[in-house]
Amino acid sequence: MNKINKILQYARGNDLYPDLHLVSGPPEPEIMVGGKKVLMFTSNNYLGLSNHPKVVQGAIDAIRKWGVGSDGSRLLSGNLEIHRQFEKSIATFKKGEDAIVWPTGYSANVGTVSALTQPLKVGPGDFFSLGTVVISDELNHASIIDGARLGKQKKVVFKHRDMKDLESKLKWFKFRRKLVVTDSVFSMDGDIAPLDKMAELCKKYNAMLMIDEAHATGILGKTGHGSLELFNLKATTDVDVVLGTCSKALAASGGFVVGSKELADYLRVASRAYMFSTAMMPAASGALIAALHVMETEPKWREQLWINVKHAMQSLEEAGFNTLESETQIIPIFIGDDKKAIQFSRKLFEKGIFAPAVRWPAVPKDTARLRITLMATHTKDQIDYFVKSCKEISAKLQ
Ligand SMILES: Cc1ncc(COP(=O)(O)O)c(C=O)c1O
Repeated sequence: MNKINKILQYARGNDLYPDLHLVSGPPEPEIMVGGKKVLMFTSNNYLGLSNHPKVVQGAIDAIRKWGVGSDGSRLLSGNLEIHRQFEKSIATFKKGEDAIVWPTGYSANVGTVSALTQPLKVGPGDFFSLGTVVISDELNHASIIDGARLGKQKKVVFKHRDMKDLESKLKWFKFRRKLVVTDSVFSMDGDIAPLDKMAELCKKYNAMLMIDEAHATGILGKTGHGSLELFNLKATTDVDVVLGTCSKALAASGGFVVGSKELADYLRVASRAYMFSTAMMPAASGALIAALHVMETEPKWREQLWINVKHAMQSLEEAGFNTLESETQIIPIFIGDDKKAIQFSRKLFEKGIFAPAVRWPAVPKDTARLRITLMATHTKDQIDYFVKSCKEISAKLQ
């Protein structure tokens, strides 16, 4: 405990311990945080579906029919029809053959990357074969990194979105089994992976390609089906493993993989995070089935989100802020220094805006930033007030 105390003292003494505010109410643009009414600029509820009447009704109906818990793992008593129904719906939405779901996006990544990098051993040859090399973008989400760690095989990192670097790594491991993995929209920077080029390279060097659609599902592509739609790629033939979370635009919780039937069948018996954990709540599947339906039938949410993204990005750039390479609803406002970023975020809170600072280890050292996210339900006035407040604070913090 001595060591733990030392770490806590260091973090608190250097003003590095995060401000953990208590939130009351659903994630809407105006919300009570720490007992104060503020504007929310850090929600993953991008399309505003978390409190959409049809999505809420989907959850309520599922609770009435199934109760609150799933009772057991999917391999035992938790293999509920409603979970299978969601798997079929998300497989259709992503145009793959089949899907498999985990209780969270984190466990989906950990359970998938580890199972794919350390395939089950079923024959004598397997005991002597080299494991799979994971080739991962340097800014991939922590859950991908943790999956690779758990797989205990060779891990190689390529420079962020750098296709030359990726190709050199693929060449180096030409004769090994390879899994290339990337966020499709990067969670801290809001930029998009060049998936068309990645798919080409993976075919050329015979590597599996896995993408994490956490922040792309419901947002990217002409009809919001994600980055496959944006790049005109196909699940299974172009991208082997299409993973996503159900906790962002889909507004509930859970994680999924869409791909071939063999991939889903394999993960059902090889992913320990799937086998040894109780299935997600039935209410989550009920809400998710409804959320997919709303995404298909009410494009106005996605359209409004993109109007908001364009307006915020333009206003922030005109005001002289560095939003890095963001092209999406995740907009970093680069600050650099940890303490300055924390101060900036606190000043915003004083002005009634909730926009936390993000620093190491969530992002590389010396790249602290405010990381804001937009929702379809933000108004233009709310965005303008946010940008005006940033300008005022920035002038004082120089
Ligand atoms: C890219 C990415 N993958 C996975 C996750 C984990 O998803 P969940 O929060 O549903 O566990 C997140 C969530 O923050 C994420 O941003």
